[in-house]
Amino acid sequence: MTLLQAATDVRLRAYAPYSRFLVGAALRSTSGAVYVGCNVENVAYPEGTCAEAGAIAAMIAGGDTRIAELFVIADSPEPVPPCGGCRQKIAEFADAGVKVTLCTTDGAQRTLTVGELLPGVFTAAHMDRT
Ligand code: THU
Repeated sequence: MTLLQAATDVRLRAYAPYSRFLVGAALRSTSGAVYVGCNVENVAYPEGTCAEAGAIAAMIAGGDTRIAELFVIADSPEPVPPCGGCRQKIAEFADAGVKVTLCTTDGAQRTLTVGELLPGVFTAAHMDRT
């Protein structure tokens, strides 16, 4: 199964009764395993989690730590951009050159690297004086 298909399938399991905006994410880790996630909202709105965060949590729970490729899909007018927090979460587990493909349910796609998604990323090196 392709990452696009996996993201498309898991998107339909999103729990998004408040925004009604269903998002699916699928990543392949450097081991070759595929992990998926969808957004899971909560009536206490800030407690909701994004699809990307779900896929990353599944990867960590599955025993992998590095992302090789990631797809995100939503029914948006243009390929859905990950939120700022998810960009930092992705950067924690992916090299700057890793490709992230943003998709719409209409078939549009845009591929960016992790470095392009989050220029100036905060890293552990910024704490070197501590
Ligand atoms: N959302 C994601 O899951 N990933 C994104 O990349 C953008 C936004 C979710 C969060 C929330 O459940 C809904 O979309 C509307 O913001």
